[in-house]
Amino acid sequence: MSIPYTKKILQYFLHPKNVGEIEDADATATEGSPSCGDQVKLFLKIDPETLTIKDVKFLSYGCASNIATASIITELAMGKTLEYAKNITWESANKELGGLPPVKVHCAILAVDALKSAIENYEHAHGLMKEKIPTDDRILMKRLRGVINPVAGKDVVSTKLVASVQIKDGHVKIEVALASDHQFYNNISSEIIERLEPLWDVEDVEVIPNEN
Ligand code: FES
Repeated sequence: MSIPYTKKILQYFLHPKNVGEIEDADATATEGSPSCGDQVKLFLKIDPETLTIKDVKFLSYGCASNIATASIITELAMGKTLEYAKNITWESANKELGGLPPVKVHCAILAVDALKSAIENYEHAHGLMKEKIPTDDRILMKRLRGVINPVAGKDVVSTKLVASVQIKDGHVKIEVALASDHQFYNNISSEIIERLEPLWDVEDVEVIPNEN
């Protein structure tokens, strides 16, 4: 049985808005869905004076619902302040699209999470957070839940690919249960670095393979 998409979802899927990369982006974020293993990458160009979004683009490795919701939320965020864009929810995208099938709600959440993470990364990079919470193991693990293990199609935490996390004086060490010659090692390692390096008090991130 096919999934009952609204006309608007199909329109946005067939003619998505704001697809692509921003080469000199001020902030980016890649989010993976623990529900389906799909990913979306979002790019932001921000006016530092007014803190408004001058440009926003996305690349989706997800389904029709994800492409449609990412299109909608980038349209809703374009030209708006970071404060406004932070409050865009999957429910607002859902409403604009005329209702997603319930099994596809996580696809909208994935798109919204990518926008929120990109804004958060910008705030970390520019010291704009309301509260400067020191990064600890819990924060590292939370961020790592957005990195997908392509072998299992689930996040690297729940699939036990992260063997240990450690932060000391801004230096982060992430031990992974993968050998350095594993086909996905380089890919997973660079995604881990990309997700953790933007944190305001993180100076560098080292990913340590397991060679045993
Ligand atoms: Fe993965 Fe929609 S099923 S993003």
